[in-house]
Amino acid sequence: MCGIVGMIANENVCEVLLKGLERLEYRGYDSAGIYLANQEERSLVKAQGPIKTLTQKITPTMNGTVGIGHTRWATHGIPSEANAHPHRSEHGKVVLVHNGVIENYQELKATYLKETKLIGETDTEVIVNVIEHFIETEGLDVKAAFKKVLTEIKGSYAFALIDPTDPTHFYAAKHKSPLLIGCGTNFHLVGSDALAMIHQTNELIELQDGEFVTLTTDSIQIETLDGKTIQRAPFRAQIDNDSIDKGTYPFYMLKEIEEQPLVMRRLQQKYLAPSGESLISDTLIQKIAASDRLYIVACGTSYHAGLAAKTTLERWTNIPVEVHVASEFGYHMPLLTAKPFFIFLSQSGETADSRQVLVKINQQNLPSLTITNVPGSTLAREANDALLLEAGPEIAVASTKAYTAQITLLTILADAVARQKGLVEQLPKNLSQALSLVEEQMTQIVEEKEIIHQIVNDFLPTTRNAFFIGRGIDYAVALEAALKLKEISYIQAEGFAAGELKHGTIALIETGTPVIGLITDDATASHTRGNLEEVRSRGAKTIVLTKKSLAQTTDRFILPDAPDYLMSLIAILPLQLLAYYASFERGYDVDKPRNLAKSVTVE
Ligand code: M6R
Repeated sequence: MCGIVGMIANENVCEVLLKGLERLEYRGYDSAGIYLANQEERSLVKAQGPIKTLTQKITPTMNGTVGIGHTRWATHGIPSEANAHPHRSEHGKVVLVHNGVIENYQELKATYLKETKLIGETDTEVIVNVIEHFIETEGLDVKAAFKKVLTEIKGSYAFALIDPTDPTHFYAAKHKSPLLIGCGTNFHLVGSDALAMIHQTNELIELQDGEFVTLTTDSIQIETLDGKTIQRAPFRAQIDNDSIDKGTYPFYMLKEIEEQPLVMRRLQQKYLAPSGESLISDTLIQKIAASDRLYIVACGTSYHAGLAAKTTLERWTNIPVEVHVASEFGYHMPLLTAKPFFIFLSQSGETADSRQVLVKINQQNLPSLTITNVPGSTLAREANDALLLEAGPEIAVASTKAYTAQITLLTILADAVARQKGLVEQLPKNLSQALSLVEEQMTQIVEEKEIIHQIVNDFLPTTRNAFFIGRGIDYAVALEAALKLKEISYIQAEGFAAGELKHGTIALIETGTPVIGLITDDATASHTRGNLEEVRSRGAKTIVLTKKSLAQTTDRFILPDAPDYLMSLIAILPLQLLAYYASFERGYDVDKPRNLAKSVTVE
């Protein structure tokens, strides 16, 4: 939520900041802004809307050897130029960008800003003016005033601050919201993530909660708020600059859908020996095997991945599994068993709803594992163990390859835990080979994507709503398919257990309502077909996605046959494509749906 990039150098930083903002746009795109300063000139430019609107306002003469940029996902105040960052204090003494939420900004405003004229409604504008207030009333220098405000703030923040009169220094601080430092020769950067800086450097330093940094072109001074110096070595980010380009794809989402076979291969290579044996650490597997219940905690698509993997985990490991929505679990925790084990699923590793649960779990010293796509992310750092999804950067807001990677990694984990417990009867002989098959089948589905495009043109061009139904794992996939469709095409889409329709939801069926039936479960296929008949006889237009061995002549998309535990991986692909084409055909920005952001760092 919101992206920050900042730079101090011996040359104009404008281009680098704009490139960084483009890379951060997935974190929010309501409005954007940039501030540049050097000894002679200063410029502040803001625009409502995406980065390209901001870029159009930048003139070639704008110059600064220090600068900050911001792309916003609104929390306080509407998306507007007045609320866009950077925020300059009333008398121009400091300029600030912020990611996070300041919970006590109203109190700070009431205490310190009685005389100040604010332009917008953001918590950040309050903070920048409180800093100026301390400079003016207490005679503090910029750094001391900034640090003093930080000690009074309640909430989450990543801040980057410039003193317009001193372009040789740059300040940043972090608490709960991510911030990295980028290291270079004669320049330094800060950014919300590695993507913001990778075009300049892959030598990064992680700033931790409660830390403050002062940057010049050739020095980095990290300290705690009470002035204790911190020494921290940089790490090298393993991100290939090419992997974050769209290439010839019209949208990242299509690229990421098509990358899924490759992700299957990477997961096999990283976590499975060719013989099928797990390469995950024995200690972690033993900890999971010793537990009496697995609690999977996640949000959105990651939550759906947990639901899709639950059956395999339970069947193979014989350990009961509960899957919980993080925002509910943290504040209404169920009775836990004697030996719980927590698995946090999060593509970004930064989701605030999931983090608040992990904080509580850590306070109780309960064992945890984070499965994430982002090395060094907050959830990865704060759990006892972390496993990486190896999906490569996922830029489109709609999560696709992370979903299938999460299910796959949970399946690999289930296999390893079951082997550890000696429960081998139900296991595939060689999971690595089974995943190779999925890789091929995914490739085949991608090659047939025009069939899905045609289904969209036939059934979804103008519809305002759509239903996905299924039973068992098909129900879990139906939930994810509906989320994908609604978030990027704005069609009101819902996933239902097929048998539940007749208990209420069927009242919504009208002439022409699209109902997509997902049928891959042998035991319940005929029941779901019956449920589709019930809606068809009430006017619905039905579309069946099924597997080869269950197919009938009128079915619209036929999936290859695969064992039950792999079916969700294959079945979701055409449904991701369905959402993609529905959004594309309506002319929307597929990668940046309205009101959303990729990384949700507020509760
Ligand atoms: O980064 P996370 O996996 O923790 O994010 C959780 C959700 O915000 C996320 O899965 C969201 O639902 C997707 N963007 C939907 O496509």
